Amino acid sequence: MLGTLRRYCEDAEGEVEQWLETQAAGWSSATRFSFAVVADDRPPIGHVVVKAVTAGVADVGYWTVAAARGQGIAARALDTVSRWALETQELVQLTHLELLHARGNQASCRVAEKCGYLLRDLLPAAPPAFADSGHRHVRTPSGGMDSGGPDKAK
Ligand SMILES: CC(C)(COP(=O)(O)OP(=O)(O)OC[C@H]1O[C@@H](n2cnc3c(N)ncnc32)[C@H](O)[C@@H]1OP(=O)(O)O)[C@@H](O)C(=O)NCCC(=O)NCCS
Repeated sequence: MLGTLRRYCEDAEGEVEQWLETQAAGWSSATRFSFAVVADDRPPIGHVVVKAVTAGVADVGYWTVAAARGQGIAARALDTVSRWALETQELVQLTHLELLHARGNQASCRVAEKCGYLLRDLLPAAPPAFADSGHRHVRTPSGGMDSGGPDKAK
């Protein structure tokens, strides 16, 4: 992971190591569950994270490296981690997962839709952190890649 992050980051002093420490601390405190997405023995091609926010609810986040996009990798990885978070793990109790993305991020909206995250509401812009308005999608334990209903918001 270290090598991949160094390739994709402007590695300001210690930034990569600090990021990795944050992921390890998250696992220790059961507040942040971070997964590298790997294929075969090659370096990681993506990342999925589940961040426990308030009792029963966690946020998910994800990215794939540019060269791996458009092959269904984010959707498969997110679906796998979502299933783990809602149905398998016993570290924290979760009733549902939330996925927030900028309204213009159509690839992310499609990933949400493919993984059974249904659109719950539209979020207004909140600059400076969120310059664009957004979508909040929600997945419950009964959701999943095979059960995602139509989600028309784009
Ligand atoms: C969003 C992101 C994770 C998608 O990764 P990916 O591995 O390409 O995702 P997938 O291949 O599983 O699915 C992408 C879907 O979006 C669609 N898509 C891509 N660009 C699109 C666009 N501009 N408009 C509409 N749909 C688009 C693809 O066609 C695909 O849908 P399909 O399977 O029905 O054809 C990736 O683009 C990324 O890392 N972006 C930067 C970080 C980011 O935005 N993370 C999400 C933050 S909420």
